[in-house]
Amino acid sequence: MEIQVFNDYVELSETAAEIVATEIRNNPEAVLGLATGSTPEGMYARLVEMNRKKEISFKDVITFNLDEYWGLLPEHEQSYHHFMYQHLFGHIDINPDNINIPVCTDVQVDRLCSEYDQKIAMCGGIDLQILGIGINGHIGFNEPSKNLTVFTHLVDLAEETIESNSRFFHNCEEVPRKAITMGMGSIMFSRKILLLASGRSKAEAVRNTVSGKISTEWPASLLQLHHEATLLIDRDAAGLI
Ligand code: F6R
Repeated sequence: MEIQVFNDYVELSETAAEIVATEIRNNPEAVLGLATGSTPEGMYARLVEMNRKKEISFKDVITFNLDEYWGLLPEHEQSYHHFMYQHLFGHIDINPDNINIPVCTDVQVDRLCSEYDQKIAMCGGIDLQILGIGINGHIGFNEPSKNLTVFTHLVDLAEETIESNSRFFHNCEEVPRKAITMGMGSIMFSRKILLLASGRSKAEAVRNTVSGKISTEWPASLLQLHHEATLLIDRDAAGLI
């Protein structure tokens, strides 16, 4: 696992955006796996700027988001659909048909999940997967557990995740208890992985990811087994390694 440490979040976001931009320049039809949450916001802002200046084009890029809250309509302001349009898709030249985010209101959840995986496979798999990390070591919404699931599935969110994400809602009760997430296999099959972590609150998560033992109880530790995983972290997040 390659680790790059930056002075601050701005530098980290700039480098993350450069890596994505290089991927797109090398392959204008790149398949990107995308994350939501606070961490990639700076990277998305920089990518929007690059697109505005015509330095990169998303015209033929295909995207698959990692996850979505179960039960939130795409219009809900805390849905990950909404997040993605607010921070990226609403400001770039991507073809809307190339955007894929699980729609979490279909009762036929198993079909929805297998169709999502089939579509990833039909597009040739993910070239570059962007990840954030939860304070409990989750990636996507693959929460710590005795067993991890390979493919896209419905998951019960961990208490730490509900509590941590309540900052985006009015209170803890409003946070959905379930989500659809790509599985660990879907993530690990990606050709390249870029994990971003910023701030002191992520320092322990980073330490357990890079130097802890590989365990399903710390899903991000499985990235140690990936042949092309890179961690971009700022100094605060690197504080314990
Ligand atoms: C979001 C996702 C999550 C977040 C993680 C960190 O799509 O998959 O794993 O990346 O919860 O969230 P932030 O960046 O808000 O700390």
